[in-house]
Amino acid sequence: MTSQNNGGDLRERVAEELLRSRARSTALTDAVDEHDLVRQHSKLMSPLVWDLAHIGNQEELWLVRDVGGREPVRSDIDEFYDAFKYGRSVRPELPLLNPVEARQYVGDVRGKVFDVLEKVPLEGRRLVENAFAFGMIVQHEQQHDETMLATHQLRTGEPVLHAPPPPAGTLIARTEVFVPGGPFEMGTSDEPWALDNERPAHTVHVDPFFIDTTPVTNAEYAEFVLAGGYRDRRLWTDEGWMHRTHGKLTGPRFWHREGTSFSRTAFGVTEPIVPDEPVVHVCFHEAQAYATWAGKRLPTEAEWEKAARHDPATGTSRRYPWGEEEPREEHANLGQRHLRPAPAGAYPAGASAYGVHQLIGDVWEWTSTDFHGYPGFEVFPYPEYSKVFFGPDYKVLRGGSFGTDSSAIRSTFRNWDYPIRRQIFAGFRCARDA
Ligand SMILES: [Fe+2]
Repeated sequence: MTSQNNGGDLRERVAEELLRSRARSTALTDAVDEHDLVRQHSKLMSPLVWDLAHIGNQEELWLVRDVGGREPVRSDIDEFYDAFKYGRSVRPELPLLNPVEARQYVGDVRGKVFDVLEKVPLEGRRLVENAFAFGMIVQHEQQHDETMLATHQLRTGEPVLHAPPPPAGTLIARTEVFVPGGPFEMGTSDEPWALDNERPAHTVHVDPFFIDTTPVTNAEYAEFVLAGGYRDRRLWTDEGWMHRTHGKLTGPRFWHREGTSFSRTAFGVTEPIVPDEPVVHVCFHEAQAYATWAGKRLPTEAEWEKAARHDPATGTSRRYPWGEEEPREEHANLGQRHLRPAPAGAYPAGASAYGVHQLIGDVWEWTSTDFHGYPGFEVFPYPEYSKVFFGPDYKVLRGGSFGTDSSAIRSTFRNWDYPIRRQIFAGFRCARDA
């Protein structure tokens, strides 16, 4: 993919990705009525209609005004869709576009963007090299689509989203694999649409360790709950115990307990937990307490990436656990194709060189690492994408979930969130020192 040789192909690919992300945004917002679009389903989330117009506004700022150098479509609404100006809890009080206006707005912006895409040279400025700004906006829309999917999960009422079940699990002989110590290449300098926090590529030394072949499952997590894990102070850090006590945590969010059995509610449907599916909707503190109970720990971010990318046969790092190919259906559970994580062992074709399964898709995986810039980090193209979040407040999550689109995930992709967050599609796997 280079702007010099394949300008036409590149523009075509951008157009396809723009259409694909918009189809998803449309489906997520058309699934509910006007009342559900404007109301706040949880203080943690924006009204869906805010996400929709915000998607359009970011697209206008970067692609219409900056890349295209065009007149604003709507310059009067920027501040209401600035995620840093007003937090999620106050967004319903803002003079937001109503659903009809929001749909009109994102459509108007998109019309201009297709015109810009046709005419703008994809060279001469780092922002447009390899169509980076377009790729950034595609990923931004898909990221908000995953956020809207989380809002759907918090919404109460009749189910409105439907999808076929994921493929069945298969037995994986080993529960953990050994990863030898030594250097590997972490991050990337040449992935065209990689975001600033994934850059640059750099060598990291990792001590030998063991890592679980699959994420921790519902059955395993239920054992921890039944063994009194939430009442055992020794398993929790001080911060974790404080949060567990203050938040009255007794199990994963959306789980219900009856005696010794558990059910869970997902997208309006309540059913018994599926034993071999990865557990989802646990916070960092819960993941850490489970790992301690299991005699293990969470992997560091570097360990996760080495297990996912390093090919010991060649000494190089792969784009995806399975190799260089873009994700296909048999590789990973992505893109809301299924409305749940797939059972352990459902994607043997997606395993990494070390034999680690389901690193991409299914559930975001908590790591023990705080979110920081890599050595040589450079802000690009704006500090509010990553840099303002660097520091000890956020933990890194890796790998994407069943709600993450393939355009917004790769083995170098970094997500981050507060260690108390549970509404995201997050689970974890364990590691231990060798
Ligand atoms: Fe955003």
